[in-house]
Amino acid sequence: MPDSLLPPAATVKPVILTGDRPTGPLHIGHYAGSLRNRVALQKTHRQFLLVADTQALTDNARDPDKVRRNVLEVALDYLAVGIDPVETTICLQSGLPALAELTLLYLNYVTVARLERNPTIKDEIAQRGFGRDIPAGFLCYPVAQAADITGFDATLVPVGEDQAPLIEQTNEVVRRINHQAGRELLLEATALIPEAGRLPGVDGKAKMSKSQGNAIHLGASPEEISEAVKRMYTDPQHLKVSDPGRVEGNVVFTYLDAFDPDKAAVAALKEQYRQGGLGDVSLKHRIDGILQELIGPIRERRRQLAGDPAYVLGLLKAGTEAARERTQGVLDRVRSGLGLFTLA
Ligand code: TRP
Repeated sequence: MPDSLLPPAATVKPVILTGDRPTGPLHIGHYAGSLRNRVALQKTHRQFLLVADTQALTDNARDPDKVRRNVLEVALDYLAVGIDPVETTICLQSGLPALAELTLLYLNYVTVARLERNPTIKDEIAQRGFGRDIPAGFLCYPVAQAADITGFDATLVPVGEDQAPLIEQTNEVVRRINHQAGRELLLEATALIPEAGRLPGVDGKAKMSKSQGNAIHLGASPEEISEAVKRMYTDPQHLKVSDPGRVEGNVVFTYLDAFDPDKAAVAALKEQYRQGGLGDVSLKHRIDGILQELIGPIRERRRQLAGDPAYVLGLLKAGTEAARERTQGVLDRVRSGLGLFTLA
């Protein structure tokens, strides 16, 4: 496409946009799936993190209070894991009206049939038991997410594996809008998904979530961590230390793969476990130590920051203001690119 309205790529850092619904404290699944990528990339990229409260409302319409209460909690989690507020801009979705307006425009370039086929949406509809009574806002949240991503001109989106279909849907919207405008108004984005795949819950269930009671939160106490480790699903056939055990589907090994920096040691442990001679108690001792070391400093930073809510609120306010200008710029570009009437 010829005349691009975008700034020349070489002059700016590539942009990251990603976010989380504020519905509860974040856990080590979020950490492995996305948070640690964000911490690693914040210097080389221009990063924006969205506390996605309007998206959270799409499946919590009856409990807006929960969403409100968790906004600062998510911001705290970000800072506690090492998001640097100088490098990364943290902002509040409902404070960015341009995103809502972009959503409204994009909705005309997406069909209901396509939304119903979105695998993430399909899964979530089943999980939440919506049946036919799907709130329209819920069905359409992928379009709002497309607005989030494109509204910042983001090209990289660090997310867990379950979000991949949403990035694909975003890029479809981008192509439709660009086609309609006859030029490159919007950029396509790439999902950055960890190789290891999604971290299961401690009970071995595919999804770690607060509602399932199988999560380890980033603010977990040493006792809570050890308690969760005790409950970790291993190999139910592995009764005696000398028995050969299964590594596949064994949550302790999955977590070691995700968090143990010593890959060679983990490989040796797997070998020993398969052959027999490695007991669950000593295996669990290792993951306990690693999780205590990972979460300890996060918990401590979180505790300190929680004592200064005005500071966290100030960051969120300043970040949202900066993002307001940026997203308004994209909205203006889309409006004029589509040829909407301008009053000015
Ligand atoms: N859908 C994401 C989640 O449920 C949250 C989110 C909102 C998001 N807007 C986003 C993620 C934009 C990536 C990009 O966790």
